[in-house]
Amino acid sequence: MFSAPKGTNDLLPGRSGRFAAAVAGLLAPAARAGYKLVDTPVFEETGVFLRVGESTDIVTKEMYTFEDKGGRSLTLRPEGTAGVVRAAIEHHVDRGPLPWKVRYAGQMFRYEQPQGGRTRQFFQVGIEALGPEDPAIDAEVVTLAVRAFEEAGLPNVTLLLNSMGDEACRPAYIATLQAFLRDNAAALCGECRARTETNPLRALDCKRAECQATLAAAPVITDSLCAPCKEHYDEVRAYLSSLGVAWTEAPRLVRGLDYYRRTTFELVHGGLGAQNAVGGGGRYDGLAESLGGPRLPGIGWALGVDRTLLALESEDAPFEDPEAAEVFVVPLPGGKDGALRLVDELRTAGVRADMVFGDRGMKGAMKAADRSGARVTLIVGADGGVELKHMDTGEQYPVPFAEAAARAAAAEQRDESIEDTP
Ligand code: HAM
Repeated sequence: MFSAPKGTNDLLPGRSGRFAAAVAGLLAPAARAGYKLVDTPVFEETGVFLRVGESTDIVTKEMYTFEDKGGRSLTLRPEGTAGVVRAAIEHHVDRGPLPWKVRYAGQMFRYEQPQGGRTRQFFQVGIEALGPEDPAIDAEVVTLAVRAFEEAGLPNVTLLLNSMGDEACRPAYIATLQAFLRDNAAALCGECRARTETNPLRALDCKRAECQATLAAAPVITDSLCAPCKEHYDEVRAYLSSLGVAWTEAPRLVRGLDYYRRTTFELVHGGLGAQNAVGGGGRYDGLAESLGGPRLPGIGWALGVDRTLLALESEDAPFEDPEAAEVFVVPLPGGKDGALRLVDELRTAGVRADMVFGDRGMKGAMKAADRSGARVTLIVGADGGVELKHMDTGEQYPVPFAEAAARAAAAEQRDESIEDTP
């Protein structure tokens, strides 16, 4: 017997409706804001990803890299931004109207140690806006992440906001941080001591309590921003304030990819364990150039749909499956042909309809009708006789076969409008 590979999950009916609704909800505000759909390959030349984080775990330890039969080194995408920017360069987006605003959805792959909310294959939705360095577009992008969770039914996320500075001010900050880490090396774990030399910023991300206590006193980047970065960050925050978007300053927030400049952010949810980030993003003004393209600043985010689903489930929020049957059809012995014709007529008319298959007996069939969630059931006999049953009141009466589908659809709508009446 086979099982799904380590770090992967099967998404099955029961959860899949909510997953699909989450994807649609998360991306709807971005679609209304003019972010058009893009789709890039699930694998890219390995070099595309090497550029996004030569000193990060994602790139050095977690990539699914393989050689194809033609001897090319390819990698399953660990994230969406690098591929989107590669495509933007290849298709000369910089020569057209900017901003180039796009949205995407798809599976990503990272060879991580699986734990609650962390898998090796996971689904992200994302947006990217290429072109302007205008702080107003940072505010738009950040706001759309907040609106995404609101629309998906998860308003209780916390927005963490930071600025990572740029080439002008970050090196000096890193040197100051490195000096602090060296001075406090005795109080840090082995991994943080190693990071002090390879990637001091990542030390800020250490989850160990003893390191956190020491790092609480570490210098923060927002105190070291150069004047243009500080002005940019101030403007972003002023726009967010005026939009009524609440955030928490997170001056020690470091992201797991190297390409970030200036605005960075994460969205976290309290109902998840250690893996509490449901989304994150930021500005990546040097990425296009590092991929061999022209100067093409950008900002975007990606939201983890698997974690969003876990967060929704942790809130026990009610969910009405938009794909649940509205009308259910139960054939009595000899009534299957009539039942098949009725569900087909209902479906063609735009009603979600389903029926019982197999020989389950009346009791089992009515149980299936109950479980389907349909408000109206049609019971069809061998002679074409049909009974219409309102599932909530139990009221039941005969209807002519020729009118059965239309009457069921009308009854279903009437029941719905009764339910909607306050
Ligand atoms: P990221 O923070 O690496 O950013 O991932 C975004 C989100 O994807 C995370 O907040 C999390 O919800 C989800 N995620 C990441 N890894 C896993 C995993 N192993 N299992 C389950 N969910 C996961 C990026 O990927 C950037 N490309 C975001 C971005 C777009 N920045 C600019 N534009």
